[in-house]
Amino acid sequence: MTTVWDSFVLGQVELKNRLAMAPMTRNRATVGGVPTDLMVDYYRQRSGLGLLITEGTQPSAEGQGYMLTPGIYNDAQIAGWSKVADAVHAEGSALFIQVMHAGRISHPDNTQDGTLPAAPSAVKPEVHEMNTANGPQEIPTPRELATDEIPRIVEEFRTAARSAVAAGADGIELHSANGYLLHQFLSPNTNLRSDSYGGSVENRARLIVEIAKAAAEEIGGDRVGIRLSPNNGAGGTVEGPDYADTYRHLVGELAPLGLAYLHLMHIGDQELLSWVRANWPQALIINRPGRDAAEVGADVSAGVADLESVGQLALSNPDLADRLKVGGPLNAADPATFFAGAERGYIDYPALVS
Ligand SMILES: Cc1cc2nc3c(=O)[nH]c(=O)nc-3n(C[C@H](O)[C@H](O)[C@H](O)COP(=O)(O)O)c2cc1C
Repeated sequence: MTTVWDSFVLGQVELKNRLAMAPMTRNRATVGGVPTDLMVDYYRQRSGLGLLITEGTQPSAEGQGYMLTPGIYNDAQIAGWSKVADAVHAEGSALFIQVMHAGRISHPDNTQDGTLPAAPSAVKPEVHEMNTANGPQEIPTPRELATDEIPRIVEEFRTAARSAVAAGADGIELHSANGYLLHQFLSPNTNLRSDSYGGSVENRARLIVEIAKAAAEEIGGDRVGIRLSPNNGAGGTVEGPDYADTYRHLVGELAPLGLAYLHLMHIGDQELLSWVRANWPQALIINRPGRDAAEVGADVSAGVADLESVGQLALSNPDLADRLKVGGPLNAADPATFFAGAERGYIDYPALVS
């Protein structure tokens, strides 16, 4: 029987096991979005997992949503990421940088250039506050991206893909989940456009497909993963009763591109999951939010997924792979320090003493 401890060939890299760290924003970069030495330690500590998917990383100043998140659009950021990649590779793990444009989930005080958040449509997130350098503030109504700006967005993702590989990463993950820009294009309540990027399912999926094609063209499809979170409602997205058709269309468009993987945040639609498994030709990573440690590995053993990703368990257990192997006790995650920007609650979760 296959287990999560078996190796796996993901695109161009051989993973030592089938456990991935799920992408997690931790707000420990510099104000300029440069990965810090603290981040190098954090990722190095977690390299017992076969694949590390990084925190959401903006492809442009405009794409930044939260404070102190890293970017991948200038030389200093690329140099910072290359230290992370070297550290992770030295421990025998692989690194995919998650490229995330926050779209409307942003605030001018959180971006480098102080611009209004850019989104598919000028639809304000309902009752939504976010932390900024000037304290918690309401998220403003975003501006609608003009049709002739869309090629620029595609090019920013393309360049981010090239830069990630230049930094030594094994690939990128396109963040098309959790209510950020690409998910906002997909979701009918955040995309009210009347051009070729809004309206029909084909149109709402168009930008994601264009970006995936551009990234695959630039660095090879086998270095590009994509994350989807069907109908999870994140960031105020309301996908409606036909959401499964939307995802079947999107996955069908992405399938021929030869991507490295599809990373599905699975919240219970068993029918859609079965359809994806049967129709997605490349690797499938499943993330089951809130899953218990005892259940980790069940999807791989059952053949439902090729890899499993874990978030909070990996956040709070730097040596998670070792602990799971021996059934050791687990540290509990401390949500108060998730986004706190400091060393505490970041690199000081203890490892098991052997
Ligand atoms: C602190 C924190 C930050 C997160 N940031 C991201 C992110 O940047 N990108 C993303 O796709 N998901 C993000 N997520 C979601 C996780 O990747 C994962 O899907 C979620 O935590 C559920 O899995 P878990 O129960 O194993 O933690 C974040 C989750 C947490 C706890």
